[in-house]
Amino acid sequence: MRGILPVISRMRMDHDGAGSLHMWGDEVPVTADVRDGQPVLETSPDAHFPLVIRCTVNGDVLRMRFTNVGVEFDLTFDRAGEAEIAAHAAAQPVATPAPVGPDVTTNGLATAPPMGWNSWYGLRLRITDELVREVADALVEMGLRDAGYTFVTLDDGWQGGRGADGEILPNRGFPDMPTLGRKLHDLGLGFGIYSSPGPATCADYTGSFGYEEQDARTFARWGVDFLKYDWCSAGALYRTEEEMRGIFQRMGRALRESGRPIVFSLCQYGAFDVPRWGATVGGNLWRVSYDVEDRWESIEAIGFAEHSTPVGGWNDLDMLQIGLGGLSDVEYRTQMAIWAMRSAPLILSCDPRDLSASELHILTNRDIIAIDQDPLAAPVERHRIGAVDVWVKRLRVGHAVAFLNRTEDVVEARMTWEHIGLAHPARTRDAWTGVEAPASPEWSVALAAHESIVLRLLS
Ligand code: GLA
Repeated sequence: MRGILPVISRMRMDHDGAGSLHMWGDEVPVTADVRDGQPVLETSPDAHFPLVIRCTVNGDVLRMRFTNVGVEFDLTFDRAGEAEIAAHAAAQPVATPAPVGPDVTTNGLATAPPMGWNSWYGLRLRITDELVREVADALVEMGLRDAGYTFVTLDDGWQGGRGADGEILPNRGFPDMPTLGRKLHDLGLGFGIYSSPGPATCADYTGSFGYEEQDARTFARWGVDFLKYDWCSAGALYRTEEEMRGIFQRMGRALRESGRPIVFSLCQYGAFDVPRWGATVGGNLWRVSYDVEDRWESIEAIGFAEHSTPVGGWNDLDMLQIGLGGLSDVEYRTQMAIWAMRSAPLILSCDPRDLSASELHILTNRDIIAIDQDPLAAPVERHRIGAVDVWVKRLRVGHAVAFLNRTEDVVEARMTWEHIGLAHPARTRDAWTGVEAPASPEWSVALAAHESIVLRLLS
């Protein structure tokens, strides 16, 4: 489990001011500078989590202060410029007990897997009010809103500390949250926002720790309709399943009491079998994995992993990578097919203006979206025929069948409907090509590497 403590484990600095930090197991380059007579360390602005770390020097010890987290690390370098994190001191907040209470009553929202856009992969920490408005306009103009992508969520990087009264403040990029909320509502979109049960978010911005009720009220006043609540630094304060459930429930309850219907999206990377209990803390959807990446290996690992069947909400496989540029159309179609077959939330994350025509087609495919949003939300039955994965999903009317090739080779398989437990349908429609054809009793499929075919069975 990630938290503050394992975030930074080792650091190296050369005498010329260049060095690196070990963060979450990755080596991140940093440069040192002097401002106002004190060292400042800075990661590249392109880093996954761009950081500016203010330091003080006391004898041989360099003290790094992560302002938002309120945590300080002391480092003593050896002659080669290497330092293990020597001490973890100062203002580490103390966990307030958050015992699990009675289940939070359901808010009745998100009766289908939520769909929308989230700023994280496309804009990272460059988000501003202006860019979000541009994205919102693009979602409308490009037909994505009408296809169902209605929540517009500001992920990490909108926060700017707290006021004297404790109220969470946006940073300079967001001059007026209620007006932004109104703009989104006027466009027929929902307003989503992001916070953490820890004192800091994963990118070291202000979290809701100790201010849950106040933040829920503030979000409600801003017109927020959706909250993604990301574990991050809470891992340093809370370790057991009980503690995790208790602190998520505290926000779940605060949202229910805020007077505004707000979808609650849990993000704790699937810990403690969250599909079983996410709804009891007020959750509507919950992530079941670490962060998805725009690489085939990541789509495959998350897409094919088995999870418990969700109770009272949705298993969130993380965001659609379509439009981010790392995969081919064939592979993006397969991500979409898997997410839809598994009734996962469909949240795109690229700047929609970067979408190619074929990617826009993938995202707005009516059959695929209908399979995702089908009211039965039946779990897929998985079969394997030769090297082909064949998934069957019962729909309110008929079935959907996905043929998936997770291998690097062309694969082929012959099969009958009985092989996959189905009666022979009259016709099928191929979701990707739109071609309708009579169904034969026995047939074969051939799939290129990472390719998918999705059929809707028609009587
Ligand atoms: C975590 C989450 C991501 C994103 C970032 C933001 O890594 O899993 O989805 O919200 O934090 O810092």
